[in-house]
Amino acid sequence: MATIAIVGLGYVGLVYGGAFADLGNSVWGIDIDVEKVDKLRQGTMPIYEPGLQELIRRNVEAGRLRFTTDYAEAIPDAEFVFICVGTPSTLDGDADMRAVRAAAETIARHLSGHTIIVNKSTMPIGSGDFISALVEQLKPSDATFAIVTNPEFLREGSAVYDVFHPSRIVLGAEDREAAERVAELYRVLDAPILITDRRSAEMIKYASNAILATRISFINEIAQICEQVGADIKIVAQGMGYDPRIGPLFLEAGLGFGGSCFPKDVRALAAMAERVGCHPQLLHAVLEINEDQRRRFVRKVQELLGDLYGRPIALWGLAFKQDTDDVRESPALDVLRMLLQRGALVTAYDPAAMTNAAREVPDARYAPDPYAAVVGADALLIATPWNEFKQADLRRVKRLMRTPIIVDGRNIYEPAEVRSLGFVYVGVGRGHRADLGS
Ligand code: UDX
Repeated sequence: MATIAIVGLGYVGLVYGGAFADLGNSVWGIDIDVEKVDKLRQGTMPIYEPGLQELIRRNVEAGRLRFTTDYAEAIPDAEFVFICVGTPSTLDGDADMRAVRAAAETIARHLSGHTIIVNKSTMPIGSGDFISALVEQLKPSDATFAIVTNPEFLREGSAVYDVFHPSRIVLGAEDREAAERVAELYRVLDAPILITDRRSAEMIKYASNAILATRISFINEIAQICEQVGADIKIVAQGMGYDPRIGPLFLEAGLGFGGSCFPKDVRALAAMAERVGCHPQLLHAVLEINEDQRRRFVRKVQELLGDLYGRPIALWGLAFKQDTDDVRESPALDVLRMLLQRGALVTAYDPAAMTNAAREVPDARYAPDPYAAVVGADALLIATPWNEFKQADLRRVKRLMRTPIIVDGRNIYEPAEVRSLGFVYVGVGRGHRADLGS
């Protein structure tokens, strides 16, 4: 059993805090947000994540997990301190390191004995050295420390599953013994453990996100071509995916990628590359295709409806993907903004993300359920692939709409089935030009 402090109770910090406690360790979660810590103590989660509340509750009840805003309470006794604070994008695409710097400074001042500082936040390559220098400068003279980079690969919506079933554990350290000690924390999880230098570990995180984002932009580009030549991207992706060198995952064409990781990390990697004299053509293209994908979707709606000014439109989906309330960099929100700019009267619905969306886009209308959103609509747009939408009663939807048009940005329906119900249906990369008769 180890004594662990987790600094930063966002997504990553909470999931890892809960998981390390569940594995029998004694864990302190620290955050500077007083309200968040108060709520967590009462068992209220600051984010929606399946299974997280139970994970946190059972460990708090067992006395293995505690929350505080006070570093002094948690850091001096901790053998391991995990940095899990956010690194959002700055205006020029770099990672904003302010939270990391503040966390590292405060941790340093509270160190006592020997501590292993584990960096989980995604930050530019070389940041491990930066943190190390900062801590060295500010720590008490008799305290010693080692820095280990340990990127996370959690997916929102399945983070609680992922944390206990990792595809790999990556540890980067100049101090091999420190990395071995962190490896011990994960040993029970039965995943390959790769110990390397800090910079390679930092790059593994960026490169992993970048290749997944690249697959999505690639399949979206192929989808675009499919539309012009009358091929079906779903079948094309299926046929490609049987090749073990290609594999079936991350080949879903749609509105492109959003969320707290892919856009920010690909931008940060591109910005880093430029700074060291590389011109990352592919990364720039991946981002450009991804942004275009949203505009292309709105153009499709315009092709079908004409002028959008004053047109009632239903939008199903606001979260950047299903099973989360997260709207950060959500393609759905961009689509919503573009429709509103064109004067459309949009009524949106999402099973989990409406509160967050309304904060970002207060001038849209939000409906209490998917059917209320489509009443009198001239088109129904699908922007997030929630199961609730896949299982919707489309006959009922058709009766409620003024014009039965579905523009499916996530390819959740089968074109032939939906058309047989009397809808005009357009997906992404599913031969839609032919359907439009153009
Ligand atoms: C991602 C990585 O998967 C995870 O390893 C990393 O730690 C953080 O970033 P997440 O952002 O939760 O996780 O979402 P993910 O499921 O990977 O999807 C990202 C985006 O890509 C979503 O907007 C999703 O809708 C989109 N996507 C995904 C596609 O458009 N097509 C696909 O085939 C897959």
